[in-house]
Amino acid sequence: MERPFVFINVAMTADGKIDTFERRGAAISSPRDKERVDRLRASADAIMVGGKTLIGEDPKLTVKSEVLRAERVARGLAPNPIKVGIVTEANLKADSKFLNTGPAEIVIFTTRRTSKEHLALLEARHVIVYFSEAEKVDLQAALATLRELGINRLMVEGGGTLNFELMRLGLVDEVTAYVAPMIFGGASAPTLAAGSGLERSAAIPLKLIEIETWDDGGVLLKYHFMR
Ligand SMILES: NC(=O)c1ccc[n+]([C@@H]2O[C@H](COP(=O)([O-])OP(=O)(O)OC[C@H]3O[C@@H](n4cnc5c(N)ncnc54)[C@H](OP(=O)(O)O)[C@@H]3O)[C@@H](O)[C@H]2O)c1
Repeated sequence: MERPFVFINVAMTADGKIDTFERRGAAISSPRDKERVDRLRASADAIMVGGKTLIGEDPKLTVKSEVLRAERVARGLAPNPIKVGIVTEANLKADSKFLNTGPAEIVIFTTRRTSKEHLALLEARHVIVYFSEAEKVDLQAALATLRELGINRLMVEGGGTLNFELMRLGLVDEVTAYVAPMIFGGASAPTLAAGSGLERSAAIPLKLIEIETWDDGGVLLKYHFMR
């Protein structure tokens, strides 16, 4: 199957949490990390998020730096990468930041559980919608479709359920984690990779390819997935 190069980026605490137990999108990145993430976004053709992050956190998913947007335009690209949502029920609000912050093309992969009213809203906003007939979105098919749309570099910005599902299916090439010097704790707080988990014998092996220690007390880790 042809698919884009897929890289996950997360900000996590030293105990691997990507949010607190409250799940309100807690700030974890340092100012320097936010700049790094913006550069990473600017390097991507599309940015993908999972349904809980999309509906709960309502991310803008745009490139913040005007300079980086201008550089993309100079390279013949759109100012922002395409925004991609993987969501069982695409019940987005008309005033959501995800839909309204741009300009950016938007692609939603969903299921038949999305209501007609919400589909009408997405259509009115020129969102490209693809349906999976299964209970959840077919991620393999979604990546193949994105490749057909011309997307070569896909950035995934969580959450943990989507990250794990992509990893479990062998659809990820690289993961970068900014590890902030703090602990959130909490058994129910989301982690880098959630879902149902794997037995030890099925653990996904990684190759550490980069490590940086930063003055803000954070550590940047980059891993490749071994095939
Ligand atoms: N620190 C960071 O870098 C960072 C980045 C992003 C998010 N977050 C945090 O992560 C948390 C959300 O993560 P999450 O694990 O709860 O959810 P998520 O990964 O954002 O979304 C997962 C949801 O997507 C839908 N989905 C549909 N098809 C799917 C498929 N094939 N595979 C996986 N998901 C599919 C499902 O919705 P249904 O349940 O409706 O079926 C699923 O529950 C939030 O607290 C957010 O703040 C942190």
